[in-house]
Amino acid sequence: MITALEQSSTQTHDKTVAPWRRFLIGESPAIYQLSEIIELIAPKRITVLVSGETGTGKEVVARAIHAASTRSALPMVAVNCTALPASLVESELFGHAKGAFTGAHMSRIGRFEQAHRSTIFLDEIGDLPSEAQGKLLRVLQEQTFERIGSSETVRVDVRVIAASNIDLENAVRDRRFREDLFYRLNVVPIHLIPLRERREDIPLLLDYFLQKTCAFEGLPPKQVSDEALDFLMAQEWPGNVRQLEHAVQMAFALSGDRLTLTAQDFTVRGRHASLASVNVPAPHRPLVTVGRDGIDFDQVVSDFERSLVNQALAVSGGNKARAADLLRIKRTTLLAKMKVFEDPKSQVISIRENERAAFCA
Ligand SMILES: Nc1ncnc2c1ncn2[C@@H]1O[C@H](COP(=O)(O)OP(=O)(O)OP(=O)(O)O)[C@@H](O)[C@H]1O
Ligand SMILES: [Mg+2]
Repeated sequence: MITALEQSSTQTHDKTVAPWRRFLIGESPAIYQLSEIIELIAPKRITVLVSGETGTGKEVVARAIHAASTRSALPMVAVNCTALPASLVESELFGHAKGAFTGAHMSRIGRFEQAHRSTIFLDEIGDLPSEAQGKLLRVLQEQTFERIGSSETVRVDVRVIAASNIDLENAVRDRRFREDLFYRLNVVPIHLIPLRERREDIPLLLDYFLQKTCAFEGLPPKQVSDEALDFLMAQEWPGNVRQLEHAVQMAFALSGDRLTLTAQDFTVRGRHASLASVNVPAPHRPLVTVGRDGIDFDQVVSDFERSLVNQALAVSGGNKARAADLLRIKRTTLLAKMKVFEDPKSQVISIRENERAAFCA
């Protein structure tokens, strides 16, 4: 694995790597595949619909597509459909003529005209009111529209990228979203999988956000302890990459002058512990895959136990009795484990025989 900084600097020196790759951090197969798709579709005007849970990087992907396209000399125009009051959506998107409605003292161009020869990013498209949905459908079909209160037809050359974190097919079924518009938008569907399903991206993202925060604060680079990394790798991350970014900023602040961030820095003290839930892997999904070369069973078991103990101690703020409770083991067992972990020469034997099946393929 290479770190985000190494990745960035390798990319800076490697002239074959496009600049947009620098802000799409990740080394999982999903991110590699995504980069390949972006490269293929970016030069075309083809419409893209990006879906995925909140914080998975839908806007990052839209910006990457725009940056990789021939339209990148002009800025991408981003519109958040949720943030616009229903009465203003149409005028915001398509503009209006002078006197079109009360308060329209001057004519005004809309976002589609602003995005001429560039890209428009329609975020939270599922919240677009139905009248505006009809008008958008026509722009996608014909690249034309009329400003509100005007009969003059405006023609634009705009690439549309839309995003949604709600299931638009459900919205179509519930008649909240036009089916014909959905198919017009869904020409190239890109679905971003949650961070918990591409955990291998966590170390790189973590390092990227940490070094970015250090640079922003004008401080020397910091690092994350192994035990903190274990802890972070085991979280569910319902808020995905954005939640990880915020967790890094919080931990950075709590670390003070220390150069190494610990697991405690990532746990919020008090009732609203945002990262206190330890992931329990689904029994059918192996944590470790036994390939043709086999694995060192005792080492894997030992590493896994060490990770669980470290996480429990991090969640309990170092309280050993509470950590033992969290793991449903006796405090004396926990102490014995900790003692063994402190001695690098010791081999660890599984806590209970029946726990072995949970993480071996
Ligand atoms: N692959 C990535 N590399 C670097 N930063 C990322 C990546 N994915 C997401 N981020 C960062 O995470 C944060 C959330 O990303 P973004 O706003 O694109 O998510 P989103 O899917 O649009 O979320 P929402 O549905 O809540 O609008 C941003 O600060 C973004 O820079
Ligand atoms: Mg977004």
